[in-house]
Amino acid sequence: MKYTVVLTAAFPKVARELLAGEFDVIEHPTEHGRSEEDMITILAEADAAITLLQDPVTRRVLESNPNLRIVSNFAVGYNNIDVDAARELGIAVANTPGVLTEATADLTMALLLAVTRRVVEGDAETRTLQRCDWEPLKLLGASLQDKRLGIIGMGRIGSAVATRARAFGMEVVSVRRGDAASAGKHAGAISMDDLLATSDILSIHAPLTRETHHLIDAAAFAKMKRGAYLINTSRGALVDENALCNALDSGQLRGAALDVYEHEPQINPRLLAMKNVVIVPHIGSATEEARNAMARIAATNVLLVLRGQEPLYKVI
Ligand code: DGY
Repeated sequence: MKYTVVLTAAFPKVARELLAGEFDVIEHPTEHGRSEEDMITILAEADAAITLLQDPVTRRVLESNPNLRIVSNFAVGYNNIDVDAARELGIAVANTPGVLTEATADLTMALLLAVTRRVVEGDAETRTLQRCDWEPLKLLGASLQDKRLGIIGMGRIGSAVATRARAFGMEVVSVRRGDAASAGKHAGAISMDDLLATSDILSIHAPLTRETHHLIDAAAFAKMKRGAYLINTSRGALVDENALCNALDSGQLRGAALDVYEHEPQINPRLLAMKNVVIVPHIGSATEEARNAMARIAATNVLLVLRGQEPLYKVI
C-alpha cells in the first residue's frame, strides 16, 4: 500500500518531485485563512502532510486522522501546530531551519534601511510627482553608523543580522536571558529593560510561544528610547499591534518596518495608513534559493518518517 502525502499549498516543485516516485501526492492550491474544518477535510487521507505556517494544525485536526504520521511545516517557525497534542498522539513534527537564515537576515537589513532612509516614502513621492527635486531638508532619515541595534532573539537569524549590522557600523546588543547559564553567552548581552531603553533600533528574531506573545506591549514601548525604530521579521504576535500603533502615533517610535502581523492575513488598518511604516507580506524567506531548500527539507522530512526513520529536523 502506498502512503499518501498531502501538500496543503503549491510548494516549489522539488517537494513533489522528491515524493512522487514513492508515494501518492495530493497537492492543494495555496489558500489563506483556512479553518480547522478546512484542515480536517484536506488532511483526511493524509499519512503525512507538508503544511504552511498559517495552516491551523490544532489538536482537533491532529485527532481527526489516526493515520497521520508526520506534519512537516514549510517554515522554521511552528507556532501553528499544537506540538503537545502531536507528542501525545505520536505524530512527528518537523521544520526547515538553517536554510532561510541568510534570506531573512537580508530582508531585515532591507527593512531597516528602508525605514530609516525613507526609501518607500521616497519611491511613492517620486512616482506621484513624476520628477526628482533635490532639497536640503527633504526626506531626512537616520544614519546607521554608531547607532545601537537591540536584537531580541540571538539565534541563527539574529546572529546573521548582527553580522550585517556591524558591517554598517552599528553597535549590536542582545537580550540576556533570565537564566544565569546564558548570561554573557553573547558579547553585548544586556537586560531587556536596558536594551529597550538604549537601542536606537529594535529587531525581533524570537519564536512565538506562550511566553513571547505580546513581548513588546505598551509597557515595553514606554521603556524604549524616544524616536527609536522597530523591525519585526519573526512573528507578528510578539508585538501588541495596537500598542505599536499608539507608540507610532505619539512619536514614541519614529518608524517601524514589518514583515509579519499579529492577525495575518489581516493587517491593522492604522498601520496601513502610516507613512513611517514599511509593510511587506511575510517575505523573509522569499528567495528562490531559500524556498527551494525549504521544500527539499520539508519533503525529505516526510520521506524519512514514512520510511520509518527520523526526520532531518525534528521539532518533536
Ligand atoms: C518561517 O520559516 O518561520 C518564516 O516565517 C517563513 O519562512
